[in-house]
Formats: sequence, structure tokens, C-alpha cells
Amino acid sequence: MSKLLIKNIGRLQTPLGSCSHYGAKQGENQKLDQAAVLIEDDRIKEITSNGTLPQEEADVVIDAQGNLVTPGLVEGHTHLVFGGYRQAEIPLKLKGAGYLDILRAGGGILDTVQKTREASKDELYQKSRGFLDEMLSLGVTTCEAKSGYGLDLDTEVKMLQVIRELNDSHPVDLVATFMGAHAVPPEYEGRGDAYIDLLCREMIPYVKEHGLAEFCDVFCEDSVFDVKQSRRYLRCARENGLGLKIHADEIEEIGGSQLAGQMEAISAEHLIAIGEKGMEAMAAAKTTAMLLPATSFYLGKSYAPARELIQREIPVAIASDFNPGSCPSLNLQLAMNLGYLRYKMTPEEILTAVTINPACAIGRGSQVGTLEAGKQADLVIWDAPDMEMLCYRFGSNMALQVIKKGELV
Ligand code: NIG
Ligand code: FE
Repeated sequence: MSKLLIKNIGRLQTPLGSCSHYGAKQGENQKLDQAAVLIEDDRIKEITSNGTLPQEEADVVIDAQGNLVTPGLVEGHTHLVFGGYRQAEIPLKLKGAGYLDILRAGGGILDTVQKTREASKDELYQKSRGFLDEMLSLGVTTCEAKSGYGLDLDTEVKMLQVIRELNDSHPVDLVATFMGAHAVPPEYEGRGDAYIDLLCREMIPYVKEHGLAEFCDVFCEDSVFDVKQSRRYLRCARENGLGLKIHADEIEEIGGSQLAGQMEAISAEHLIAIGEKGMEAMAAAKTTAMLLPATSFYLGKSYAPARELIQREIPVAIASDFNPGSCPSLNLQLAMNLGYLRYKMTPEEILTAVTINPACAIGRGSQVGTLEAGKQADLVIWDAPDMEMLCYRFGSNMALQVIKKGELV
């Protein structure tokens, strides 16, 4: 049994609450000054404050030098595994082409699908591993990762196997989401219903049977999957015992967030264009709003109405949406800055949004997302005295030291 003590923590800040009520009120944080954390193996054993130290001797002592300590960040939405990049789209965008124009012309997601189909499993593994290394250095200790650039059984399985192997070999804990309904593949052009049939008949049952994912996600969007198709896919996912997620109201409001509420999805993603009915449905179902402000920035879109969502007591999470098209950045700290300045969320609300709320939305709320005795010892020591500094500084990596399952990584 090994014991690690982190002492001289100027401020320890953590959300309170568990998933039964989704982190209690958004932004209800505990702040302890002059704190210390005793870790035994991979768990938090004791937290002390006001200059008191735990009684037990530790094998290793880390001096936090008066800095801020928070839970490790939980990244609730990424498209981590993909072939190629899409820098060639930028000149088109700068000439006025929209995200959906590019997709309708066979580019966008479909371009990445072709490159992901061509990539070997090892290439995808090495590339994604590099991304995870970078995320960890930025303070992310748990990460959701979606498939959805295969759109055929073999490639979707290849992607999910990469996620599984990374979960086994990399310090960051991964949670896999099957996103076979990310776009209609070229073989099914104009036959979205037939592709949904294939997903429901073969792919979702295969994913479930082989334990390849815990959640299913669908891109419910104009010219992608309509509400009827999305509902059919999500019903099938539910019948197969998978959790439900939905990319909703990213560009056009076609009813995705209402569907999320009606189906009691665990989270709805994006919500840039959400309206009254969607908010009502999500509030009733307590569906988490997984907001992706760096995507708003990168697409040049407006920002999801975070304050209104919070006012309606919809749990709000912030994630990066890392992907090769709409958000080629994996920097969750940048998303936090945007949450502060564009969503006008408070630093306390932002901490809730990048820890316990996404943890609950990916089924890990009882293990990670808060700092309390018994939880997994995932923590970040920041180069900052408080959350205000962390939300204000922008463009630098503010994580000084990251501790994952009780180990300095
Ligand atoms: O969340 N909108 C759908 N999926 C991603 C983008 C994927 C891509 O462009 O490759 C998103 O924005
Ligand atoms: Fe996404």
C-alpha cells in the first residue's frame, strides 16, 4: 500500500453532489484553504484544511506551493479517433461554404470516413495515443470518445477497439460511445432509412454483444438524420441496453433536443440553436446539456444559451468536441475560457461543468468528478491560486502537475 500526500494546497476547490441530482446546483463548490490530500493507492483517503495535516505518514509528499487543486478534468465529448485531417476545408469556409454545404458535397465527415477506413488500427492507435498524452498534460483524466468515422461494421469496430486498447494502456480513463449514426455513408447515399435499418439490425447488437461501447450517439441535423430516424436509432440503442446521447440543434433546430428529453437521453450535445420546447423537454428529463463552445468559435456560430439552461436547472457540462472538422482543438482549458467569456458562466459553474456533470453524463459520477474520501485520486495542481485565474488566463497550459489514480503522470 502506498501513500501520497499533497500538502500546501492554497485552495482546494471541488463541486459537491452526486449524480442523483447531477452535481446539486450548478456551481455549488466547496472551497478549502490551506488544504492537504492524503491518497492511498488509487483512492483519496482524507482531505484536511486550515493548515491541519493528516495524521498518517506518507511515502511520497508533493508540495503544491500554495496553488489551486481541483478534480481531474472530465472531457465529456470527443471524436478522438480519426484518419487524416481537414485543413483543406478552411479556404472553402473562408470563401463562405457552410459546414453542411461541405458535408452535402461529400466532404466534411465523409472525407474523414474515407481516411479512417484507409488507416490501419495501429496508425489510429498511435495517433489517438498522442492526443491523449496532450489531453492528460492539460489536466484531463477521464475522456469520452466516439466512433463514427467508419459507418461500416469493420471500421466502426476498428475505432472502438482502438478506444478499448487505449483505455487499457493509457493513464486516461476512456468511455466509448458508438456513433454509427454520424452521417449517411456513401454506399447509402439518399437511403438514410436503409442505413438506420443496418445500424439497428447489425451494428448496434454487435457493439453491445462485444461490449465495445456504453453509449450510442446520433447526429440529428438537417441533411443528416431527421428526428424520426434518430428516434428509431435511439430506441434500438435503448433496447440493446446502451445509454443515449444525441448531437442536437448544432446548426438547425429540427427537434433534436426535444427528442433528447422525450427519450430521457443522458445528454444532448451542442444545443447552439435550442429553443423553448427543447429546453422544456430537457429540464423535465434532467438531460445534461453538453455544451461545446470551442465548436461555436471554430464554426463562427453563436453560443448555446448556457445561462438560460442553468436557470432552468438543466445540468450543464462543457466539453471540447475535439474532431478534425468543427473543432480541431483538444484543449478543454480553452473551452473553459469560452464558457467564462461567452456563456458568462461563473468559475464555480465552469468547474461543475468540466468535472462532476460530464462524469455523470458518461456514467462515471460515482468514481470521479469530485474530490472526496473514497473517490478515485484524479487531481490537478494548477499554476493558479484560484478558478478565477484559470478561467481568465488563455492560450497557455495552466496545469502544473496531474495526478491520475494516485500517481504523478
Ligand atoms: O460534433 N456534428 C457532428 N460531429 C462533429 C463534427 C465531426 C466532423 O466534422 O468531423 C461535431 O461537431
Ligand atoms: Fe461532436
